This record gives sequence, C-alpha cells and structure tokens, in this order.
Amino acid sequence: MCGIVGYLGSELASKKLFYGLQKLEYRGYDSAGIALQDDCGKIDVVRSSGRLNVLEKKFLEGKTKDQFCGIGHTRWATHGKANETNAHPHFSDDKSVAIVHNGIIENYKELKDKLTKKGYRFYSDTDTEVLAKLIHYYLCKYKKPLDALARVCLRVVGSYAVCILLECAPNEIYCIKKDSPLVVCKKQDGVVVASDVNAIEGKEKDVCYIENSEMVKITKDGYYCYTIDQEPIKKQTKRIVALPSDADKCGYAHFMLKEINEQPMVIKRLIRHYYQKGKIAHINLDERTIQKLKHIHIVACGSAYNAGLVGARVIEDLCKTKVSVHLASEWRYQTKVVSKGDLMVFVSQSGETADTLFCLKQAKQSGQKTAAIVNVFGSSISRECDLFLPTLAGTEVAVATTKAYLAQTLVFHFLALKIAKIKGFVSNSKLKSYILKICKLSASIKKCLSCTNKIQQIAQQNYTANSIFFLGRKADYDVCCEANLKCKEISYIHSEAYAAGELKHGSISLVENGSLVVGVVTDQAVFEKTISNLVEVKSRGAKVVVFSSLSKKMFVGVADEFFAIPKTFLPLQPMASIVPLQLFAYFVALARGCNIDKPRNLAKSVTVE
Ligand code: M6R
Repeated sequence: MCGIVGYLGSELASKKLFYGLQKLEYRGYDSAGIALQDDCGKIDVVRSSGRLNVLEKKFLEGKTKDQFCGIGHTRWATHGKANETNAHPHFSDDKSVAIVHNGIIENYKELKDKLTKKGYRFYSDTDTEVLAKLIHYYLCKYKKPLDALARVCLRVVGSYAVCILLECAPNEIYCIKKDSPLVVCKKQDGVVVASDVNAIEGKEKDVCYIENSEMVKITKDGYYCYTIDQEPIKKQTKRIVALPSDADKCGYAHFMLKEINEQPMVIKRLIRHYYQKGKIAHINLDERTIQKLKHIHIVACGSAYNAGLVGARVIEDLCKTKVSVHLASEWRYQTKVVSKGDLMVFVSQSGETADTLFCLKQAKQSGQKTAAIVNVFGSSISRECDLFLPTLAGTEVAVATTKAYLAQTLVFHFLALKIAKIKGFVSNSKLKSYILKICKLSASIKKCLSCTNKIQQIAQQNYTANSIFFLGRKADYDVCCEANLKCKEISYIHSEAYAAGELKHGSISLVENGSLVVGVVTDQAVFEKTISNLVEVKSRGAKVVVFSSLSKKMFVGVADEFFAIPKTFLPLQPMASIVPLQLFAYFVALARGCNIDKPRNLAKSVTVE
C-alpha cells in the first residue's frame, strides 16, 4: 500500500527519495509525489498519477530545484481517485506545511467541517489534506512544531505515519505515528525515515522503530524522539541485514518466478533454523502451559489464511488439539469464544496487515498468549507478539506471495512438532524421521521446478478460460484455495476453489461446455470420491486438468491434461502440490500479458482495513 520516505542530509534529496520510493513500489501504488525544502524553508511539491518514472520525468523536466531535505510518497488510492490532486504530499494553501501520510484518518469529515468553518479550503478527496490543514491550524495557534503536533495526535482518530515539512522549521523533518509503521535510520550522509526498511539504502542498517504516539524531530545531526508530552525518549536501534539475492531478479523474467524458484532454498534455511541437535529449536513454549493447551486459534488474511488452513490440519493431526482458523478481517468484529489458556497464532508475510495486527492487539489486551509466523523482521506483528516465529523466506517482492506462503506452511509443521513433543504425541525417533521427510521435500520441489515447461504447456492450452474451478478434498482443498487466489490475483480470470463434495450443493450449475476444472488429487483415501466429482463435471462438458501425485493411469478417461506432482509424505504434500499450481498461475498470467509482479488494484502490504 502507500509508502513513505524522507531524507535530510548532505546528499541531494531527490536521489534518496526516488531510491526509497522505487524500493517501496512492490507495496502497490497508483500515484506518487515528492516535496523538497530549501534552507530558507521554502517548500516545492511535485506530484503525478501513475508510475514513478512519470513523476521522475516531471521533476527532471520541471523547474523544481533539488535540495538536501525532502519527503516522498507512493499512494494506493483509498479516499478518492488515483489522480494528481489526490496524490501526496498534501499541503496548506500557503505551502507552509507539506505532509506525506500512510493510514486512514477516521474522523476526517468532522475535522474537515470544523476547518472549513475556520476558512480552510479543500481541493482533494483525501483524508490526508485534512491532516495537512489541521497541522497548519494548530501551528498558527501554538507556534512551536512539537506543541502543534502533540495537539494533532490528540485530535485525530485513525491510523497514521506522517512526515512533515514546515516552512517555519527549515532543515528539519517532523514525524508522528500511530498504528502504521515508521522507521528512522541515521546514516553517514544524513537521516532517512521510511515506512519500510527496504526504502533505506545499504545491506546492513541500524534502524529505530517508532512506536505509537511518539513524535520525531529529524535534523542534520540525527533524530530525536519524544512522547506526546514532549519528554525525550531514549530509543534502541536494531541491525537489519538484507539477504544477498533479495535486491534483483537474478536473471528471472519476474520476481514471482524467482521467488517460486527460491522455495527449495527456503526449506533448507528453515530446517537449519528450527531443527538443531535433534530438537525443535527457537520455539520457546512454556511446557506446563502447552500440556494444558486445548485450543489454538490461527488468525490471518489472504494467502496467510490459506497457509493457516493447512497448518490447522497439521496441528490437529499431530497434536490432537482443536484448531480454529479465522479471517482477521472478520474475527476483529466477532464475539470471541476463546478461553484463557488458548494459544493465538497470527500469520503474515508483511507483519503489517492492518486486520491481523488489530486482532493481535485485541488478543494481547485480553491477556491471551500470542505467537506470530511472520516474514518481515522488525514488522509490527513480529514485535508485538509474545513469540516470533520467522519464516526466513527473504524479501518477497512480487505481490502474489509464493515462497512466504510455503514457508508459513512449513513453520506450522515445526510448531506442531514442538507442541506434539511436549504433549507426548511425538517421540524422538518420530521427530527425527519427520525431519528427514522434510529434508526430502526440497528435492520434490526441485523436481516440480524442473518440469516448468510442461506446466507452461498446460497453461498455454488453457489461458483463455473465462473461469476456473479448483476442486480438491481435505488438504488438497486447502491447496486449491491458495491456487485459486494465485490464479485470480495475477491472471484476472474469475476462479473459485471448492471442496469437491460441495460442488453439487449449488455451484455445479455454473459448469457448462468448456468450463475449466482443475482437480488436485494427492490423497489416496479420498481419491474415489474426488474422481467421481471430476467425472460429474466432465459429463457436463467441463475440460478437466488434473494435478496429482497418484498414478496417471487412475485418471484415464477423466483428465484431459495431467501433471504429475512428486509424491511426498502426505502431511507435507500441500507444499509440493502448490508449486506447480503457482507456476500454472504464473504462466497463465504471462500468456494473458498481465503485470505479474504488480497486479492491478493490489498492494503487497495491506496496511488499512
Ligand atoms: O502480509 P500478509 O501475509 O499479512 O498479507 C495477507 C494478504 O494480503 C496476502 O497474503 C495476499 O492475499 C497475497 N497477495 C496473496 O498472494
């Protein structure tokens, strides 16, 4: 979603801002802008709709002079269209205040009415413009920046990470933050502030995470943090080290393809981290609490939710413990039937998903024990939970998650093994043999990856489909849910995942001549049942493509096309099964000429409700 970057130092700001904004592009955006401030305080703003290169061209060809202080923004439209007027930075009429903002100001209508009565005029449809004018209003009243900003924080309802330039305070950037991430980093040449560590240059960086209701003043010498009462806060920094391959496509046509191919490596990395000296490592659970544990709740959105579906089966099978999986966007408003000792597990690639983060906060407030399976180190969810279980997938750039989903699924196995071990359902030798099977998973996935051509062929035969139905039972259904999301988000084909047995309870009425049905069949125990469902759709004119780890012979007369998924230990099969389906989605989208890494309307990090 929206991205923020600010720079104040000895280098030209535009270079730093465009670098940062490019690194934030993966989050998704539809307009962008920068504001630069000279030593006398004068602020210039350049904004445009569309991609960053449009903005850069406009800046280079325009009259705006480069400076050593500036703020920049990529906007993913929420309030109002993706046009130049709605793009950030927003500013006061006299351009004495310019701001960039991530988040949503919930009481913006009330504030707008109040400010309109005071004579302020509004040009955009955004909530952010209200914030810019509110800062101007309080600055006129209280004169000192921190006095005004503290007042703004008290007055505004919603979530915000805001960087502010003030005409009255040249060579300073101010920031305020609540429920939207913000990080500051002092470098040799100056200070960078951003919504995401990726926007800060360098492989190793010592960053400082700004907490809710803190205010920051950035000068050329460094940054200074204050409470809302303007008491100085001594902050710690955290060293962030980027993994070497994260920055570029390494010769792949798209980040998504690169990330799919990184999955065997991610599995190896996770085994090294979570299995050490014959034991599950880095999952520090209190044994007495776990022995009494009766119910686990998994809370997530999108693909992370789909990983939770697989995780729930794994935990229930291994630990004989009840697991409920909740969509965070629903769970936050639901009556929560949760007992004191229940464990809440939050799953998120970005660690910033607003709904998931909100549910985590609710759980913490009610005193629940919380764990989080998260990819981005230092993200809000990873910092706020009691137990952080990293997915170690490395930076994921493509909006459609692949390697992080697989890593989340695998972390659930380690978590389940740990709980099962404590509860006495898994012996040392069973643990060892389970881990050996996980070790073999990398090879199975590599085998899938070596069949990329075959999958591309299947995709080329089917990319013109109007809609796709993914059918499976048990864990194959969970895989279908993820395959379906992958396919629709990047290829824009309407698709649905169905538990195969559910089809005839309504949805089969949609099947007609030429409908495309993808069957995922890896569990011998339900093979007969699923194949009858595939026969049912075939006899209604559907084209059937089967992805299966069972023998091709078993699908003769049913499958029009067949892909052989390498057979693995059944509980691990979803991770082997999803890989060819990720590739299927990728090649369908490629054949349709879609923007694979940045699908329309989507953002990598969904930081608003
Ligand atoms: O960062 P998160 O894992 O919390 O994000 C959750 C969803 O927004 C995300 O999984 C989304 O569904 C992906 N684009 C799917 O590929």
